[in-house]
Amino acid sequence: MNVATALETRLSHTSLDATATIDAAELHELVRLAQEAPSSFNIQFTRYIAVTDPALKARLREASFNQAKITDAAAVFVLLGDLQAHVPYAERMSAAAAAGHVPQAMADYLVNMATQSYSDPVRAREESARSIGLSGMALMLAAEERGWASCPMIGFDPNAYRSILGHDERYVALMVVAVGKPSGPGARKQRLPVEAVLRVNGGDF
Ligand SMILES: Cc1cc2nc3c(=O)[nH]c(=O)nc-3n(C[C@H](O)[C@H](O)[C@H](O)COP(=O)(O)O)c2cc1C
Repeated sequence: MNVATALETRLSHTSLDATATIDAAELHELVRLAQEAPSSFNIQFTRYIAVTDPALKARLREASFNQAKITDAAAVFVLLGDLQAHVPYAERMSAAAAAGHVPQAMADYLVNMATQSYSDPVRAREESARSIGLSGMALMLAAEERGWASCPMIGFDPNAYRSILGHDERYVALMVVAVGKPSGPGARKQRLPVEAVLRVNGGDF
């Protein structure tokens, strides 16, 4: 599937086949591909919790305005931003410099810039949201090509998710991507025309 076709065929499926299942190798492959998404400084803010257990999905559904997609999905991917992602980044860069993969001065410069930027929790959350948008789209396009249907979701309570899933407060659930088999063709939604959303070399809307 080429990129244009993937973009034109992906849609948010509101109805998924509740009998579909997904195996561990497929979860791994989808996240491996999603991880190809870019991120600022290559910090890689996105973390993924894939939920396939029916009892756990039922609890998440209660925390998601009772949206049926949560229990009908083969996997509910919870995309979390790491609000302390600059810390493992500094460790990675130190190791890369020690191994001679990057000059020490360059590693120090990048770590200093990243730490200055993202030790501010507002900026860390903003950058996490940006990264998760890209990771989520990569995940959905990979799923599309591999025969899965998907739906991005923000209709859930992140605090309730945290108590159900048990992750630290440092990680914040910013988007869910339900992945499963379609139970119908799904409805394509209209987009604004390019003329309404594009200005070349400036202008107002
Ligand atoms: C960040 C985000 C959050 C969304 N949250 C939900 C949701 O909670 N429930 C839902 O049914 N659809 C949700 N959607 C799907 C949108 O309604 C859908 O993307 C939009 O209507 C365009 O349709 P399409 O994705 O089929 O092109 C969400 C989409 C995005 C990008």
